Amino acid sequence: MSASVLVGYATRYGSTQEVAEAVAATLRERGLEVDIQPMRKVRTLEGYRAVVLGAPLFWNGWHGDAHSFLSRHREALTQRPVAIFALGPFHSPIDEKEWQYSREQLDKELAQFPWLTPVALELFGGKMDPAKLRFPYNLPASPLKQMPATDIRDWTAIRTWASTLAATLQPALS
Ligand SMILES: Cc1cc2nc3c(=O)[nH]c(=O)nc-3n(C[C@H](O)[C@H](O)[C@H](O)COP(=O)(O)O)c2cc1C
Repeated sequence: MSASVLVGYATRYGSTQEVAEAVAATLRERGLEVDIQPMRKVRTLEGYRAVVLGAPLFWNGWHGDAHSFLSRHREALTQRPVAIFALGPFHSPIDEKEWQYSREQLDKELAQFPWLTPVALELFGGKMDPAKLRFPYNLPASPLKQMPATDIRDWTAIRTWASTLAATLQPALS
């Protein structure tokens, strides 16, 4: 195995991919060798010594690619440190109740994988652009369609999390 980290992401509208890219860039700045891939394209974890997974929350749960990835790579994931982040709350100004709800959603999703013990777990604010919504949320009657576009991704918090994560992963990579 080489000393490398996989950052795997799932996304529907692109915002989680951008966060994954920022996480990967920060890990690289901290000296780690990093690959970044959409989760659904990853066939094997051979060659990776640690895995960072990021996916957005939606009303019907965590992005389906995250579920498939965790199921498909269960054995390999139990043998490596795994860090997880999710994107969810998007209201601006910040709505504490929404954050609480999203955290509970994420906890419920992860409870379906009791074998998974992430070395780091974080929820980040997300982005919502009514102009880009897909069916059925793009219908005129959809409440989301009436909302202003928001982007509450906190790039400082994202980079700080990734920077701390680099230190957490370092022992597993040396
Ligand atoms: C139709 C729709 C439903 C959503 N449902 C939830 C939700 O139930 N919980 C949550 O925390 N975030 C929810 N979000 C917010 C998304 O997680 C957020 O917009 C995220 O940034 C989307 O990531 P992506 O751009 O990578 O697809 C929802 C967003 C949309 C557009």
